[in-house]
Amino acid sequence: MAKKEIDWSNIGFGYIKTDYRYVSNFKDGSWDEGTLTTDDMITLNECACVFQYAQTCFEGLKAYTTEDGHIVTFRPDLNAERMMNSAARLEMPQFPKERFIDAITKLVAANADFVPPYGSGATLYIRPYMFGTNPVIGVKPASEYQFRAFCTPVGPYFKGGLKPIKLRISEYDRAAPHGTGNIKAGLNYAMSLKPTMDAHRAGFAENLYLDSQSRTYVEETGGANVLFVTKDGTLVVPQSHTDSILPSITRRSLVQVAEDLGITVVQRPVEWAEVKSGAFVECGLCGTAAVISPVGEIHEDETVVSFPAGHDEIGPVMKKLRETLTGIQDGAVEDKHNWVFEIC
Ligand code: PLP
Ligand code: COI
Repeated sequence: MAKKEIDWSNIGFGYIKTDYRYVSNFKDGSWDEGTLTTDDMITLNECACVFQYAQTCFEGLKAYTTEDGHIVTFRPDLNAERMMNSAARLEMPQFPKERFIDAITKLVAANADFVPPYGSGATLYIRPYMFGTNPVIGVKPASEYQFRAFCTPVGPYFKGGLKPIKLRISEYDRAAPHGTGNIKAGLNYAMSLKPTMDAHRAGFAENLYLDSQSRTYVEETGGANVLFVTKDGTLVVPQSHTDSILPSITRRSLVQVAEDLGITVVQRPVEWAEVKSGAFVECGLCGTAAVISPVGEIHEDETVVSFPAGHDEIGPVMKKLRETLTGIQDGAVEDKHNWVFEIC
């Protein structure tokens, strides 16, 4: 087998069809044994619950080629657990953790030729998801489901790679207090499409959402958690009073990485007024797709908040965190916490 001929260093965050995907179906109360398939099409009844009531959740993780030529993934156990939490919240059956890890392992190994080479800047993005498949017309959960995982080589999520992006405060809300903001439900992303496109049309890369209960606290963006750095180099990680921020695996890992690097970390609710007051010198978005994307400015109508240490290029703290995290992920930095999971 040989690597596919793809211009790895110049791909964006898009879908490239790979050879295999993994499928398992749930019927009569249990999951079948699951299999890899080359069939990228899904045929469903017109009344399938996913179409009527959006009963679907998903995950996102990446596979990397290490310097010594292995293919690895990063903390897949946490993606498996979060998908189980998403499923429980949506009245879907849980896909067991060991099955999830086995599916990802088989999927990535079968598509090894699509895993971008070490140092190319690209990675293999893995998208596991689940959806209700049988016809449902009264509002109730499906009784049959499909778990599916495909993968696609990807480059940077935001155009321009490491160039600091501009955000704006959204006039819309992302997640209701104690709603579904803390799980990866497809419905959270459907509602973000309009604000996202409005932001793009206005020249912004993304929206920063405030808490919908009081519109006082910073929550996150449509697809990444947010991080701040104070003048004295403390990493400030916004928390939610209303449990409406997605528990990002990247963010949880970065908190540990920062502590390992001797950076002081404070996890607490962060008021938008504090951000506006100029309390922070760096800002970044973190997530599997976003990795750490530096934020140079946040706009709210005519008000512009600039992050002076990371305005023109990524600031020193975000840079160090990014290099350390990506180094752990591709084997260049010691994996002290056993986060890296070898596929082959
Ligand atoms: N927040 C939202 C809304 C997301 O969709 C994602 C992506 O998964 C994240 C944050 C980052 O989470 P993770 O680091 O687990 O990819
Ligand atoms: C991820 O980072 O894996 C996500 O699911 C975010 C999505 C907006 C691409």
